Amino acid sequence: MPTTTGMKGCGYYDANSREQRSASQAFLPWLETAIADLPDPPLHQQSWNLLDIGSSEGANAIYTTERLISALREKSDLPIWALFDDLPTNDFNQMFLNLFPAGKSVLAANDVYTAAIGGSAFGRLVPPASLHVATTFNAIGFFETRPAAPLPGFILPMLPNPNAPREGVQVTEDELIPFQEQAHQDLCHFYRARAAELVPGGKLLVQIFGRDEIHSTGHGICDVLSDALLDFVEADMLPRTFYEEFLFPASYRNTAELVAPIENEPDLTATFRIDQVAARDVPVPFNDAFAENEDRAAWAKSYTGFLRAFTEPVLAAALPDDLPQENTVEKIYQRIDRLLQDHPDRYEFHFISIATLLTRL
Ligand SMILES: C[S@@+](CC[C@H](N)C(=O)[O-])C[C@H]1O[C@@H](n2cnc3c(N)ncnc32)[C@H](O)[C@@H]1O
Repeated sequence: MPTTTGMKGCGYYDANSREQRSASQAFLPWLETAIADLPDPPLHQQSWNLLDIGSSEGANAIYTTERLISALREKSDLPIWALFDDLPTNDFNQMFLNLFPAGKSVLAANDVYTAAIGGSAFGRLVPPASLHVATTFNAIGFFETRPAAPLPGFILPMLPNPNAPREGVQVTEDELIPFQEQAHQDLCHFYRARAAELVPGGKLLVQIFGRDEIHSTGHGICDVLSDALLDFVEADMLPRTFYEEFLFPASYRNTAELVAPIENEPDLTATFRIDQVAARDVPVPFNDAFAENEDRAAWAKSYTGFLRAFTEPVLAAALPDDLPQENTVEKIYQRIDRLLQDHPDRYEFHFISIATLLTRL
């Protein structure tokens, strides 16, 4: 079973994901430039076929696809298939509203056709050798399935942030091993599926939330979520076993881990060339606004909205049914907002966006 049912729907993710757009924008120029070198499709394949994987409600995915279509149109007038994938539980209604506001296609350039695909990034999504360009942004950091290993001392499979210590929060290097092994296997599955789907010369841009030598994208967001859950445990509003069993099912990789399957797995080394790989500490719109206006309440509200858009479906699905208080989910996010307002330094957030651009050989 996938580890998330998608993002918080009905337009909430779209309205609270400027940070993810900033993280993908940092690497789009790689692909816009590389599109100039795409080999022309063979005569029997009379279209350019683009697939974005993990598109959520679509606002960010449509933005990136529009930019790629502009780059392709510099090259040729061939018809274009713009395909958008996410898990079957994603809010595809919102995606179609975004694709067809007022009933008219937003990707209005001549001869662009759109379709949505329900399926997992870690499996096959389209027929063999049918894609010219595949992209994925901020999506494949979610584990394919929940690793079976326990992690009672924290909610994220990562060493806790030394800048936000809390009694009882602890993880050992050994505890992390099964999660690191699964993160590697997940990437192997992802790359193998794309290897089958891309034509020779096709391009694959993979971008995810990650970590560098100094920061992890998981710091700040998981610290404040963990602190709020522990506050609820200490107030007897959540059982301790809930904290011990709850896991935010994401891996925050570094660039070495991102390309390790291509460098170390012989079938993948023979299938892909690594054109680019980098990590960037990208601008975070809510931090930039805070630096300008010093408005803590506004910063905490935007930070909470950003965090809520991708954590609420996972948290809501994990909470027990028989809790002493109603609206526990709402109260947890209120607590998060309060903690952020009271301790902005403790929950400092950096978005470390990591990416690689690959060519299918
Ligand atoms: C944070 S959103 C990113 C949305 C968009 N790409 C962006 O950058 O704003 C992550 C998306 O990945 C999707 N996702 C998670 N696991 C997935 C999987 N195994 N296959 C396909 N999509 C997945 C989620 O459902 C969610 O819509």
